[in-house]
Amino acid sequence: MQQLDKHFESVKAIHMKDLFAQDPERAKKFSLELKNGDDLFHFDFSKNRITEETLTLFTNLSKERKVAEGIEAMFSGEIINKTEKRAVLHTALRNRSNRPIIVEGKNVMDDVNGVLDKMKGFTEKVRSGEWKGYTGKPITDVINIGIGGSDLGPLMVAHALTPYANPEKLKVHYISNVDGTHAAEVLKLLNPETCMFIVSSKTFTTQETMTNAHTCRSWWLGKVGTDNAAKLPLHFVAVSTNLTKVAEFGIDTNNTFAFWDWVGGRFSLWSAIGLSTALYVGFDNFIQLLEGGHAMDEHFRTEKDLRKNIPAVLAFIDMWYTSFFKSGSHAVLPYDQYLDRFPAFLQQLEMESNGKGVKMNGEPVDAAHGTSSALFGEPGTNGQHAFYQLIHQGTQLIPCDFIFPLNTHNKLGEHHKLLACNVFAQAEALMKGKTFEQALAEAKKSIPGDDAEAQQKQTTLANHRTFSGNRPSNMIILSQVNPRTVGMLIALYEHKTFVEGLLWEINSFDQWGVELGKELAKDLYPLLGDKEGKETEGTFKTKDSSTQHLVELFRQFNSQ
Ligand code: F6P
Repeated sequence: MQQLDKHFESVKAIHMKDLFAQDPERAKKFSLELKNGDDLFHFDFSKNRITEETLTLFTNLSKERKVAEGIEAMFSGEIINKTEKRAVLHTALRNRSNRPIIVEGKNVMDDVNGVLDKMKGFTEKVRSGEWKGYTGKPITDVINIGIGGSDLGPLMVAHALTPYANPEKLKVHYISNVDGTHAAEVLKLLNPETCMFIVSSKTFTTQETMTNAHTCRSWWLGKVGTDNAAKLPLHFVAVSTNLTKVAEFGIDTNNTFAFWDWVGGRFSLWSAIGLSTALYVGFDNFIQLLEGGHAMDEHFRTEKDLRKNIPAVLAFIDMWYTSFFKSGSHAVLPYDQYLDRFPAFLQQLEMESNGKGVKMNGEPVDAAHGTSSALFGEPGTNGQHAFYQLIHQGTQLIPCDFIFPLNTHNKLGEHHKLLACNVFAQAEALMKGKTFEQALAEAKKSIPGDDAEAQQKQTTLANHRTFSGNRPSNMIILSQVNPRTVGMLIALYEHKTFVEGLLWEINSFDQWGVELGKELAKDLYPLLGDKEGKETEGTFKTKDSSTQHLVELFRQFNSQ
């Protein structure tokens, strides 16, 4: 870290414009490419405030922090999630080579392939119309009930792969929020004869998911009447690691799709948690998604020179800004409408994984360098007309990842060319900026005159219109948004998150930080005056005055 600190002092003032001027080969030198069949995955990281030395120092740090050993340990199923005593094997879910992966003496590929076969049979039955609802009609609407990793991943992929779906035949919906509005609005769209609910929860105890699942079950039973209650298994299936709880809920174990505790929630879209995606886009496309993820895994696992390893380089760059430039946030900006939920998915992936303040060994993290920054983003060009102003001229440094597919699924007039102009121009503008002299020349055109007053006005306007530039960005180019490239893209960010975790010496695979809020919510439930809830003697008094006041307000408005 010390060497990187020193290097930072010598690099922080260098303008990227000068780096490009000094080296006409810069774009070539700072680009990496991966080809997977016909698919192209191109990563241009030249518009970053880095030199060759930056990468060398990060590879040195990686040696010190045993990144190569960490990668090997993850792929081989070692218990690297030490606080939860679990292996981390989402890569096994997409291990299309079928290389044996042994956990506790057992090849997990047997289980993985068994569940994939079950998913295949089920998706084919539902999609072909062979699976019938309680009145004999085929399924037209699939509703995934889940939250966090049991929602964001499949939802994001369903959006991304919409061109591969046929929503006129089969639609997909997602219910996640415990706000009853979410369930209510989806239920309005459904016909009880033709809907299929998938209750997706690793633990099958998550409050939001179980509440939504019970609400949907009551809605369905209410619609079909008691005579048809026994037909519930035709409309409710489950995905979980907790098969006992699934059975308690009343879902037929034949209609339950298992996964395992070595699959972290935010890494679970590749497991049966992806069932809604597979139903929506078809099983073959789901397999292609796994193939894409596997291609990135193979690159990540086998490219030992970390300067050529795309996830590692992406991690180095992100850490460079977070830990050295102290940027508090970064933006992921997909220039493809189908990737509209990708930033939301990444928020959980990166922030739940690396939002940590304690190292693996229990000691506080190195305060001078910190851990994960906040992530945000919207599809281009919408973000340009909303928050890009802050990225261009604000006082904070906000590094950006642009994602752009060379081919579009919707060839409408000039749209795609305009989209390309915009994404390339944004990266160029952030890098180059506009000098005061350029801005002054423009100001002189709009404010004519050379007297003192005019000059003052010209200078003021030029100050407003000057861009410092030197604002970094990555450009990730895909040949097209398709199941394989989307698989590669997701796996890229998963591995980037893991490498950063290793460099920060934290456990990227637990999430204790979400527990306190859950505990306190349970504590508050009886205070809110539910008919069944009984206030535990004196609990109210243990609450701070603000929480007490909020509880009282709620009670006043919900007293009936
Ligand atoms: O937000 C905490 C968390 O545990 C996530 O990691 C997980 O994806 C989500 O809750 C949902 O958990 P489950 O799949 O067990 O319902």
